[in-house]
Amino acid sequence: MPIDLEILRNQKDKNDCKYFFETGLYHATTLEKAVEVGFQKYFSIELYASFCEMAKEKFPEKTSSGEIMIINDDSANMKNYIGLVGNNKTLFWLDAHAGGPKGSNPFCNAKAKIPIEYELQAIKLCDRKDHVILVDDLRIMGKTKIEQIKKMILEINPLYKFSILENPSGVKDILCAVV
Ligand SMILES: C[S@@+](CC[C@H](N)C(=O)[O-])C[C@H]1O[C@@H](n2cnc3c(N)ncnc32)[C@H](O)[C@@H]1O
Repeated sequence: MPIDLEILRNQKDKNDCKYFFETGLYHATTLEKAVEVGFQKYFSIELYASFCEMAKEKFPEKTSSGEIMIINDDSANMKNYIGLVGNNKTLFWLDAHAGGPKGSNPFCNAKAKIPIEYELQAIKLCDRKDHVILVDDLRIMGKTKIEQIKKMILEINPLYKFSILENPSGVKDILCAVV
């Protein structure tokens, strides 16, 4: 599910984030909101080529200039792209999970149904240890998985503090980790 525009704006502003990095693009709804909020650069990794093409059509200038980079890959491979953020404080919106276009195999060739562990391992490779990490869809993860995610985030930096944010339907569904 996309994130609420004001929640995104608030997290970007109060944490002074320069870049936006998403996993799971889908119809680019949150990417569109991120552009409205105004980051310096945007990255989104999506398994399905058709969603990537749709996003390139939605943002022709920003994608051809490289301001928006749409990456057609499994976000389990995020470690191959994490260097793109450099030393810029980044807001990560981790939202890749089984889905895809109608009629497609929901698991495609993805390494995991929810690739969150791979994504957090990639973030751990960053020199900066104060990126904002938003993990969507807590409702589809069990308590054990959520605890495991928090543990992995604290292994990136033990100073991370957690809160739970609401999705646009008013459900407390987003884990927010900030330093
Ligand atoms: C809930 S939708 C994303 C919604 C979008 N982030 C937003 O906020 O508007 C989940 C997306 O993750 C994609 N996806 C699923 N597994 C993936 C994977 N392993 N790597 C990258 N994308 C994946 C699906 O194809 C789908 O487009």
